[in-house]
Amino acid sequence: MAHVDKKVVLITGAGQGLGRCFAHRFADSGAIVIVSDINEPAAKQVVDDIRAGSGEAMALPMDVADEESVCAGIDEVVENYGRLDVLVNNASIFSTLKMRPYDEIPVAEWRKVIDVNLTGVYLCSRFAAAPMRESGWGRIINISSAVVNMGRPLYVHYVASKAGVIGLSRSLARELGPYGITVNSVLPGATDTEIERDTVTPEQREALIRMRSIPRGETPEDLAGVVLFLASDDASFLTGQSLTVDGGTTFL
Ligand SMILES: NC(=O)c1ccc[n+]([C@@H]2O[C@H](COP(=O)([O-])OP(=O)(O)OC[C@H]3O[C@@H](n4cnc5c(N)ncnc54)[C@H](O)[C@@H]3O)[C@@H](O)[C@H]2O)c1
Repeated sequence: MAHVDKKVVLITGAGQGLGRCFAHRFADSGAIVIVSDINEPAAKQVVDDIRAGSGEAMALPMDVADEESVCAGIDEVVENYGRLDVLVNNASIFSTLKMRPYDEIPVAEWRKVIDVNLTGVYLCSRFAAAPMRESGWGRIINISSAVVNMGRPLYVHYVASKAGVIGLSRSLARELGPYGITVNSVLPGATDTEIERDTVTPEQREALIRMRSIPRGETPEDLAGVVLFLASDDASFLTGQSLTVDGGTTFL
């Protein structure tokens, strides 16, 4: 099991879906989990569930696309716990997206997706890196997407934002490596969560499964162990990498 005991771990967008699963796995492994989301009631519910299982967690309402919100949120974590060890940049406009041809995407929607999915990762990484640099140890784990490997039509803004996350991770890895901070991307395949979404129809889901080397549905638990590993000391010499976790659909 990856050692993350007593690490202070901030997970964005952790009120539902993959982030919620990661929050539970970190808490089960002894980490102090900061459950952050723009959706405050959802974050609080996850914290209540973690505490009910005797885990340690705190809810942090934060809009990753808002500089003041991120700055204040990370300050609050450092004030409460004295440090921040791990940041999982998971928040994204994803399950609420409507599929549309590239020339029908309203420009305001394009900008919003880039703002949350890419600028949000930049802002959280920027403010989290300061306390990590002070302690000389840190992990930044960015949730990108395996759609970047394949390209997929009808949500080019989303795919572009997730490709940007990979470039950002590689360059930040270069800047932050000397301070003991690693920066890596995880690229999930289409993963079933408790949230219904329009982006994958049942027929498309079956087609995606047939493309996998391991032909079954992907679950959040398939990703959680990889994220925990990246957060651990075992991954201390691994940085700037993009780990595709899609059951062997793409090999890059
Ligand atoms: N589920 C999949 O199939 C899949 C596949 C590849 C990549 N991903 C990526 O994994 C991550 C999690 O996916 P998911 O399925 O749980 O998505 P989801 O849409 O169910 O959850 C996203 C979470 O982010 C939060 N959020 C949205 N905007 C925010 C903002 N401005 N500030 C803070 N929080 C905000 C939402 O409230 C929500 O809790 C996302 O980055 C997504 O792009 C998911």
